[in-house]
Order: sequence, then structure tokens, then C-alpha cells
Amino acid sequence: CQSASEIVIFGAMGDLSCRKLLPALYQLEVCGLINKDSRIVGAARQDHTLEEFRNVVVDSLNKYVKETIDETVLTRFTNRLVYQSLEFKDSSSFSKLSDAIAGGNETRVYYFSTPPAIYGDICKGLHHASLITDVDRVVMEKPIGHSLESSIAINNQVSEYFNENQTYRIDHYLGKETVLNLLVLRFANSLFTNNWDRNSIDHVQITVAESVGIEGRWGFYDEAGQLRDMVQNHLLQILSLLAMEPPADLSADSVRAEKLKVVKALKAINRENIKDKVVRGQYGDGFLNGISVPGYLNEEGANANSNTETFVAIKAEIDNWRWKGVPFYLRTGKRMPKKHSEIVVHFKQQPHNIFKDSYSDLPANKLTIRLQPDEGVELQMMNKIPGIASQMRIQENKLDLSFSDTYHDERVVDAYERLMLEVLNGNQSLFVSRDEVEAAWVWADSIIEAWNTTNEVPKPYAAGSWGPVSSISLIARDDRQWVE
Ligand code: BG6
Repeated sequence: CQSASEIVIFGAMGDLSCRKLLPALYQLEVCGLINKDSRIVGAARQDHTLEEFRNVVVDSLNKYVKETIDETVLTRFTNRLVYQSLEFKDSSSFSKLSDAIAGGNETRVYYFSTPPAIYGDICKGLHHASLITDVDRVVMEKPIGHSLESSIAINNQVSEYFNENQTYRIDHYLGKETVLNLLVLRFANSLFTNNWDRNSIDHVQITVAESVGIEGRWGFYDEAGQLRDMVQNHLLQILSLLAMEPPADLSADSVRAEKLKVVKALKAINRENIKDKVVRGQYGDGFLNGISVPGYLNEEGANANSNTETFVAIKAEIDNWRWKGVPFYLRTGKRMPKKHSEIVVHFKQQPHNIFKDSYSDLPANKLTIRLQPDEGVELQMMNKIPGIASQMRIQENKLDLSFSDTYHDERVVDAYERLMLEVLNGNQSLFVSRDEVEAAWVWADSIIEAWNTTNEVPKPYAAGSWGPVSSISLIARDDRQWVE
């Protein structure tokens, strides 16, 4: 695939662009991974001079790049910058962009870092200015819609101008090192490959907890809620990678086809079964690290009557041969005690215990994949305590592969850096296909509809706690418990 040479960011002055996209591009510059002649074109509504845009970029890099900025690289990077103000809804204004973008055979990347409501307008404008060719690529940020219906509408608008093989839907979790490592853990280790099903695994827990609250974006968040904001995308992507069949290879077609099958095999949650499968919560006032923090309804800009959830726990089931009878417990929330994301795979207990004299109830093996922070992989297992005692003493212990201890010379690559590079190189494996997005909405919509028809109101939990008490019952009912 041809490596892209022009990068156009729509919404270049926005928060995502400043916090993630520009720093990611700068890091690719440091690694020499951007084409020599490529330009980075910032497009936004506001009128700015190139100088002003450069200043915003430099400020963002100083603020968000963790390493010391290299002045030579910075100069090379800022020399690539171009700025163009645009009225996104006015197609005729896109002719200005065509003046700013070099003609010829360059492959262009159009990054839509704007609200999805204007994706269609941008496509129209680009088309009007004859700025779309078959080799150009478009990158779309989530949320892709609010429901199946709205996601179809957005995808339809974009697909009038870009084919599916030109469309890159971002789920930044797919760019995280530890999420990518799931492929390696599962398919490069026969130990796991051969024990990854209902015969060996009892259940799986996926926790994505954040200590932050709404961070000044109450209006946006309130429209979405935690199910749409985190589960429909990030948690289902993790679940798909964990549960999918081995893909034939690492190509986008193979990996995405297998992930899609998992989402399609998810048992529907609806008004008949929702009570036993989902817990919906909303944080109230509480404490984090001893500091008092306001509840969701007391946050700045809040509508005190909101029933939007900030926490969800779900017992998900995959109706297929591999996973029949193996629950996947998902849990995600804001204002939880700490930022902590991990997957815990609970293997089945040994069917028989010959060590009864020293250990009456052998614990099952447990594989913990720490997604963030403190990235690592941990395998809980039984081991003999060395010693001469005639009665064997055994103990539960762990093999711990901590990324920071093991790879201390390696820089932790931000998800956006990896994903930007994949877009530039034209590799869609780490992006979500239209079919996946839509299948995920079918499943999520059914939960939302069940909430609406049963008038389910979120259960309160104190900020700084692990969610409503009923999320403990959700799993305790099955004689299991959350790993804290
Ligand atoms: C975003 C959500 O997609 O992911 C945010 O919109 C959330 O609400 C964020 O805070 C979490 O990402 P990360 O990389 O910090 O785990």
C-alpha cells in the first residue's frame, strides 16, 4: 500500500488534535516515519495565520509530549505545517483547501477530528473541490453514531465518497500495546492457544475503571453515557480480541472477520433478561484519595434530573461452540477508586486434589492481563515451598511479567502514534469495520431499549467506590467475585 504524503486534520485546533494527534505525528517525526515531503494541513473554522497555528502546535507538543522536545525535529515538523480556515458546511470554501494541498498523485489522509454530524459536509466539500481519489484515506473518530440507525446514517454519508477500504474507524484501544499484545499472548503461546475455551476457562472479567469524572464535558457525555461511550466500542473490541477464533493471518480482512463473528454471537440482552445481566450506575458525591469530589449531578453544567449512567456492569455471554456457558463479566465506570484496566481469565479448578493434606481447596489458575497502568501479564499458579518438611507445603504464587521491568529501554508508544502510523501505511487491521460497528450497536441498542422500556434508573454509587452494590451481586449470584 502506498504510504500517504498529505495529512489533513479537520478540527486541527480542537482538544483531540492538540492532545493526541499532533503529539503522535511529532513522535512519528522523531522516528523518521513520515515521508520527507509530507505536509500536515490543519483545517478548522477559525481564521488563523500559519504562525498562530504553529504556536498552537508547539504549545501542544510542549504540554503533551512526555519526552524533551528535540529542536531539530521540531523545526522539521513545524516546516510541514499548513493552515487553512474552512467553513465546513459551505462546499465552495473547500476550493481554498485545494490551493493549500499540492496537486499530483499524493495519497492524502483526511482525519475527521470533528463532531460526526459534520462528516457528511466535509465529504461533500472535498468532493466539490475534486479532492478525493481512490487512494485517499479517511479517518473517523468515535462516536460513530448514537445508535444503529444514526451510525448507518453517518457511514452512508461517508461511503458515498470513500470506499470501505479507504475508511479507518478509530477505536484507540486497538492501538494500546497491551491490547495488541492479546494477539501475541493468545496465538504465539500454545499454552494459551490450546486452553482457551469452555473446557479450560471458567469465566473472564474485563474491568476498565477510571478515576476521572466527566472532565468538563458534561453535555457531550450526558447524551452518551458509559454504555455508548465505553462498552459499545472499547470493551467490545477487547472482548472480541479475547474471544475470537484464530485468524488465518494478521490482515485486516482476517482479523476483522473473526472479531465480527464474536459480536454477532453475543447473546441479546433485552427487557426479559436485563435484570440478571446488567447493572447501571451513576456516581454521587464521594472521596478520591481523601479529597471530596462532586457527584455526577453536581458537576459543572449538570442537569440535576439526568438518568445517564456513569457505570455499567454486564454479564455477557457468547453463544458459540467455544464459549457456551463461559460468562464474560464486563465492568466500566467513571470516578472509580483508581485508573485500572485489566482482564482476568479464570481457569477451571483441578478436577481432583492430591494435595489435600496441605491445601484443602486448590485455587484455580488465573491469568491477569494488566492493560493500564502498570502494564503486564501475571499468571497465578501453585508452587511447592522449598524445604525438607515431610508433608509437602504448597502455595499460590505468580509469574509476573511487568512491562516496565522487562522492557525498560523501550518507550511506551501512545495508541494514537501506532494508529497514525498504520493509517499512513494503509493498514486497516487495527481499525473497526463498518460491520463491526453496526453489530456492536445492535447489541448495545437492545440494552438501551430495555432500560427505556423498563424505566431503569441508574443505581447510585459513591465517587471513589467500585460501583453500585448490585454490581457485586451480579457476579456473586454465580458464586464468583470481582477481582479488586
Ligand atoms: C474515550 C472516552 O473513548 O476513552 C472517554 O470517550 C474515556 O470517556 C477514554 O475517558 C478512556 O481512554 P483511556 O485511553 O484513558 O483509557
